[in-house]
Amino acid sequence: MTRTVYVNGDYLPETEAKVSIFDRGFLMADGVYEVTSVLGGKLIDFDGHAVRLSRSLNELDMKNPISKEDLLEVHRELVRLNEIDEGLVYLQITRGSDGDRDFVFPADDTEPTIVLFTQNKPGLADSPAAKKGAKVISIEDIRWGRRDIKTVQLLYPSMGKMMAKKAGCDDAWMVEDGFVTEGTSNNAYIVKGNRIITRHLGNEILHGITRAAVLRFAREAQMEVEERSFTIEEAQAADEAFTTSASAFVMPVVEIDGVSLGDGTPGRVALRLREIYLDEMRKAAV
Ligand code: PDD
Repeated sequence: MTRTVYVNGDYLPETEAKVSIFDRGFLMADGVYEVTSVLGGKLIDFDGHAVRLSRSLNELDMKNPISKEDLLEVHRELVRLNEIDEGLVYLQITRGSDGDRDFVFPADDTEPTIVLFTQNKPGLADSPAAKKGAKVISIEDIRWGRRDIKTVQLLYPSMGKMMAKKAGCDDAWMVEDGFVTEGTSNNAYIVKGNRIITRHLGNEILHGITRAAVLRFAREAQMEVEERSFTIEEAQAADEAFTTSASAFVMPVVEIDGVSLGDGTPGRVALRLREIYLDEMRKAAV
């Protein structure tokens, strides 16, 4: 089945979709994105992603080319056309193109480019990776200072994943001034007893939509939540660790820089939070 994608108002076969070579997303990484998961053919936390998208666009003085209602409709239509039961919807909005390359932003009447496509991922919820847990390495965080804006500048996170892969691991946790910021494409957590520790919000990390939901569920389940920085050494000595993201939900971490956590298998708290997250979010899916 040829994938149907959405480009600037049209639903097209992926082979026919076109964006200008002068698009500022392509030339300057001048664009923002969202990834929304699909379970049982329905969107998980669509509202959260739509709100963060507006914020990212505002922070970059970029026009929003689509209303929230229409955006939901496009998401649903793509899920339907591509028969997605479990998977992801990728959305990207760039500042568009005024037909040349220039550091100066294009004229105000330049239309943004909007692209959406689906990724079919059968078994996303019942993932074997979550049963095994992830091994992570630490790397220095050398990204720009506005990581709270979900831009498409993903070169360093990609390089981080490759460094992890080369080391025989699954992912990398980034460290700045001695403290963990986040994973290459997820937020990072450690667990000590009944307490979950994750970095406080700020410009240094992406304000994860999954993070917000998981912390809410953790508090409702009478777990303690502490939003503060932690080091790799503190993480290695913790009872458990995990990450959260729209693409992997709650993912247990079983090893950090070669040091096994606990007995080296996914922790009780991480698995419990994964189960609660999936149950609750399925109920609220749209
Ligand atoms: N990444 N931190 C970073 C750097 C991320 O790229 C992501 C998400 C998160 C988690 O955010 P959320 O819970 O809203 O997905 C944290 C997406 C999934 C991606 O790039 O594919």
